[in-house]
Amino acid sequence: MGNEMVSDGDRRDFLIKLTSVVGGAGVAATCVPFVASMNPSSDVLAKAETEVDLADITPGAMRTVAWQGKPVFILRRTPEQIQSVSASNGVLDPQPDNARVQNPEWLVVIGVCTHMGCVPNKEGPGWTCHCHGSQYDDSGRVVHGPAPKNLEVPPYKFLADNKLVIGRA
Ligand code: FES
Repeated sequence: MGNEMVSDGDRRDFLIKLTSVVGGAGVAATCVPFVASMNPSSDVLAKAETEVDLADITPGAMRTVAWQGKPVFILRRTPEQIQSVSASNGVLDPQPDNARVQNPEWLVVIGVCTHMGCVPNKEGPGWTCHCHGSQYDDSGRVVHGPAPKNLEVPPYKFLADNKLVIGRA
């Protein structure tokens, strides 16, 4: 009979343990879909890399491709454009052109203005951002603010002379 008696202390301990187990299970059940939702979906994974065929981009022409939801500008530079950007290190965010390209003929930059994220337009030499007037040269370096930084160079790799992949270093 004495074995069947449960003290208030034992009952309290049992309830605390039960609450902890149920609560822990609830947290785990809540976390699983949350963590799962943080994994990239298959269409995002598919766009983690973007392959680009360069064969039909003529000298002086630019193509815009999408990579991870962002525009990437691929500019096939002429000898004159290469000579022009090689003559300076940029103005507001100095960087030599040869530190920004793997092959001087091809400039690859993310087409998002470093001021507030507008997409600059290719106009004459370089790009102009019409949101607030920033200008970039044909190396994607900022030459007139308010943008504080050069256009970002994404990771990319040449797979062949006429093919590159963006998103792989
Ligand atoms: S977003 Fe380009 S200048 Fe402001």
